[in-house]
Formats: sequence, structure tokens, C-alpha cells
Amino acid sequence: MRIISIISSARKNGNTERIVKHIEEDFLYMSIEKGLKAECEQIHLADSDIKLCRGCRVCFDKGEDFCPLKDTLLNIRDKIIQADGVIFASPVYVEDINGIMKNWIDRMAFNCHRPAFAHKTAVIVVTSGGGSSNHSIKTIKSALLTWGFHVSAQGKFRAGALMENDQIKSRYGNDIKVIANKLFSSIHDHRAEYPSFYSLMVFKVQQKCWQKVIKEQNTFDCSYWENKGWLEKTCSYYIPHNSNPIKIKLARIAGSIISIFFL
Ligand SMILES: Cc1cc2nc3c(=O)[nH]c(=O)nc-3n(C[C@H](O)[C@H](O)[C@H](O)COP(=O)(O)O)c2cc1C
Repeated sequence: MRIISIISSARKNGNTERIVKHIEEDFLYMSIEKGLKAECEQIHLADSDIKLCRGCRVCFDKGEDFCPLKDTLLNIRDKIIQADGVIFASPVYVEDINGIMKNWIDRMAFNCHRPAFAHKTAVIVVTSGGGSSNHSIKTIKSALLTWGFHVSAQGKFRAGALMENDQIKSRYGNDIKVIANKLFSSIHDHRAEYPSFYSLMVFKVQQKCWQKVIKEQNTFDCSYWENKGWLEKTCSYYIPHNSNPIKIKLARIAGSIISIFFL
């Protein structure tokens, strides 16, 4: 099992990195207990060459390979593709994720049009001083769900200015274990193959959108959806899955109704 942690704090060994490290340690421990090989790698966005999105839309219209910004964005994307699970971690800055994470999400926005992560499990970690992390969780989660991820856990950690490791363990040891366990069991038990009602509904809305667009013009996004077989009327998700048929039906009805208002 391979885990990638995408960390957006610029502070070395800060709250966010410390908490992610504890989750990784618990994950590795669980893997060893089950006799499974596992590895974790941290990617620090602040140390990576990720330029600011210029909003040119080339990634949408022609494909991400044609992005005029030459940097490490697609190398990181490739690492995610090779991973089984991803930890997305950001500090709260002024009630939301920090700018480094937001820019990275913006640069990855082509995945909203062409989801590529449906087999992958994600967990979200947000650290704050003492305030609310709800907005930050929402920002990351809505991006990940649109990109196709199975989000198995989310953790909010009120960590003050800087929390010592033993304090983190005593206050948050249990929450950390729960997140590591959800990450581990989601990958181990292939939970991504049991999409939630919301994920099935998101798929339906996206499908309706590209079915409509393709009638007017065959865009790069439409070809992607068509080549994947996702525009077929019988297709209900990005990957073969085992969801309850009633849940699928209801999610598709809900998605169709929502798309009437948005498309
Ligand atoms: C510029 C800036 C803005 C912040 N804004 C908030 C905030 O709105 N609410 C909050 O609870 N904490 C806020 N904090 C505190 C951090 O979210 C918190 O200390 C976090 O755990 C830092 O993570 P790090 O050590 O990984 O960088 C802010 C910190 C900075 C530097």
C-alpha cells in the first residue's frame, strides 16, 4: 500500500506536518500488524515548484499536458495516480485552507472536468489555532469528490500556535488512530467500490453535463468521457462498483433533477 501526503503548510515541523506524521505512523503500524507492505511519502507543496494558475483554461480546452506553466504539478499528479491513498492536509488561514493549498487545487481543476482518481481513498486533515475548520474541510472535500476520490475520513485539529508531539498524542491520539484506521480499511476493503449517494449523484450531474455539451460540440472533455464509456446511459459511476441498486436509482434521479437547474 502506498500513501502520499500532500501538505500545504510552509512551516517545517508545524502542527499540520506533525499530525500527518502521527497518522502515517499509525497507518504503517496497522499494515505491519496485518503483514502488509506499506510506504508513505510526504509532498510539501511549499517546497514544490507550483506556479500560480493564470486562468488561461488551456488545461480544460486542450488538456493538462498543454498547460503553459512548466513546473512539478503533473509529477505530483502522477504520484497520486500511483498511490492507493492520499492524505490532504492544510492549516486554516483566515477561516479557510491556506493559499498554497488553494492554488494547488485551482491548478488541479482540470480533474473536475476529467476525474481520474475514482479508485483512490482520501482523508482530509485540517489544523487550526482554535477556530473553526469547517470551511477548510468543505473546500478540500468538494474538490476531492468532484475529482472522483472516495473520502473516507476528515479530521479537525485545534492545535494552537504550535502543539508538542506528546500533547498531540494525549489530546488527539484517538482521533489520529480513527483516521489512520479508516484510511487503512478503506484501501484494504476496496471501499471506493461502494460509492456514497452523494458521489453517485455527482457522477450523474457530470454525465448529464457532458451528454449535453457533446450534442453541440465535441470538446476535449467530451472525448475523455466518451472514451471512458461514461456517457453511456447505463453507466452509473467512473468504475465498476457494488452500490445498492435502490441507492443508485435514487442518486441518478436526484442528479438528473439537480442538472435541470444547473445545465
Ligand atoms: C496567516 C495565518 C492565519 C491564520 N488564521 C487562522 C484562523 O482563521 N483560524 C484559526 O483557528 N487559526 C488560524 N491560524 C492558526 C493556524 O491555523 C494554526 O496554528 C495551524 O495549526 C498552523 O499549522 P502549521 O503549524 O502546520 O503551519 C492562522 C495562522 C496563520 C499563520
